[in-house]
Amino acid sequence: MELTPLKLIFFLTFLIHLHRYSSASTFPKEALPTKSGYLPVNDTTGSAIFYAFYEAQNHNHTSLSQTPLVIWLQGGPGCSSMTSNFYELGPWLVTPSMKQNVEHLELQPNPGSWNRIFGLLFLDNPIGTGFSIASTPEEIPTDQEAVARHLFIAIRKFIALDPLFKSRPIYITGESYAGKYVPSIGYYILKRNPLLPLSKRVNLHGVAIANGLTDPETQVGTYALHNYYLGLINEKQKTQLEKLQLEAIQLTKAGNWSHATDARINVLSYLENVTGLATLLDFRRYRPYDTDWVVQFLKNPEIKKALGVNESMIFEDCNDVVTKALHSDVMKSVRFKVEYLVKNTKVLLYQGQCDLRDGVFSSESWMKKMKWEGLQKFLDAERDVWNVNGVLAGYVQKSDNLSHAVVLAAGHFVEADQHVNSQALIEDWILDRGLFASKHIPNLFMDI
Ligand SMILES: *[C@@H]1O[C@H](CO)[C@@H](O)[C@H](O)[C@H]1NC(C)=O
Ligand SMILES: *[C@@H]1O[C@H](CO)[C@@H](O)[C@H](O)[C@H]1NC(C)=O
Ligand SMILES: *[C@@H]1O[C@H](CO)[C@@H](O)[C@H](O)[C@H]1NC(C)=O
Ligand SMILES: *[C@@H]1O[C@H](CO)[C@@H](O)[C@H](O)[C@H]1NC(C)=O
Ligand SMILES: *[C@@H]1O[C@H](CO)[C@@H](O)[C@H](O)[C@H]1NC(C)=O
Ligand SMILES: *[C@@H]1O[C@H](CO)[C@@H](O)[C@H](O)[C@H]1NC(C)=O
Repeated sequence: MELTPLKLIFFLTFLIHLHRYSSASTFPKEALPTKSGYLPVNDTTGSAIFYAFYEAQNHNHTSLSQTPLVIWLQGGPGCSSMTSNFYELGPWLVTPSMKQNVEHLELQPNPGSWNRIFGLLFLDNPIGTGFSIASTPEEIPTDQEAVARHLFIAIRKFIALDPLFKSRPIYITGESYAGKYVPSIGYYILKRNPLLPLSKRVNLHGVAIANGLTDPETQVGTYALHNYYLGLINEKQKTQLEKLQLEAIQLTKAGNWSHATDARINVLSYLENVTGLATLLDFRRYRPYDTDWVVQFLKNPEIKKALGVNESMIFEDCNDVVTKALHSDVMKSVRFKVEYLVKNTKVLLYQGQCDLRDGVFSSESWMKKMKWEGLQKFLDAERDVWNVNGVLAGYVQKSDNLSHAVVLAAGHFVEADQHVNSQALIEDWILDRGLFASKHIPNLFMDI
């Protein structure tokens, strides 16, 4: 099947001030997910994870059983993967346009969609997030083990939906707080698989994290230096920020989890206050990312119906109840899970260069602390200049199972800022192409 990206003009009558939609608008057939709906994670209570799946645009039936499946998890904690679907990496992006002096939101094809040659599955995780259902607030996970348990059930239920899914290589990806989720579900899968019959295993082939929070105790210690060298704070403010960082680090070391999270919030709040930036997610921006468009779009009952969601459900970009449930989880490190993953599968860590929350320096600071026999080789590896269509896109460093990429001209939402480059990155990494191909090993015999 080859889907020609139709320039399909579809719009909702969206009056800027009234925020009211034309009830006549529908979801165009071309833009509908291949499948969407619910994956129950608890049959007793009815709690369920919402999913939207887009089959690869370019595939044939013969190759489909080998076409990679990419799973995407949004961060938060408590933020919906529908934001990434319709704003960052899905095949259709919510885009405003003016029609007869009225602002409309329309769906436009994404030239950098991640489902060009891979199946793409968005999960609203954990339950209570986005369109996912938490039957009771008590059921919302409060730690990463519970998150992984639910995700494992949901992923297995998804694979069971189609016999062709079973053999497909699975890659788990996500950004920001998914720096916790991705290693946690990856680790859970690797630990569980050997205990299960072949037919019930999850065919994990790799994990990728964008701008992740993974080892918070290390990462919270990087803000002062990073922002000082960017010229965003002066020496006195740097000293004050270091003091606030130290509080967060000490509370983390003491295992005083809830207060440690509060102390990290203080660090970010101080930084926001003194820099006056519109958002720490991208220091170039004079206004925050326009994710509100997605919220407006998903208010429409017709859109919800088309996605298989009950019309009474109210979509929130990020859910406070979920954020609170995971409050004591924030400062807990999952670095040991990444260490386990890199020994057993491939791992990609990448960051938009302009992110001040979980950026390049923040990630490199914990990567170099990893306990992994391949680490020194990785740290000694060349960092290659990465071009896309002949234009500088960033940098890639790879050794063995670990890859690191810096995406230029991108903030926290790398895929929103660099649609096409993020597509090139994920495709090359999954297919071991370009800078991700195994390096040519000189034939010593010939050299002699
Ligand atoms: C399902 O919910 C029940 C009641 O809250 C709980 O006892 C059980 O552990 C849950 N199962 C899973 C897999 O979370
Ligand atoms: C199907 O795709 C595979 C892998 O891309 C390719 O090798 C094969 O030739 C294709 N078959 C047809 C009938 O197009
Ligand atoms: C946790 O930290 C807070 C704030 O510093 C402090 O008031 C509280 O006593 C600490 N709790 C424990 C159990 O140490
Ligand atoms: C940042 O500013 C807000 C509003 O003025 C204030 O409430 C907050 O305490 C400040 N944060 C820090 C860490 O100083
Ligand atoms: C939608 O939710 C409402 C309120 O919870 C419920 O009464 C109704 O039966 C649901 N509709 C469907 C089609 O599930
Ligand atoms: C990389 O992963 C493979 C499994 O895919 C494993 O056999 C190998 O030991 C790993 N390499 C290192 C250096 O950890």
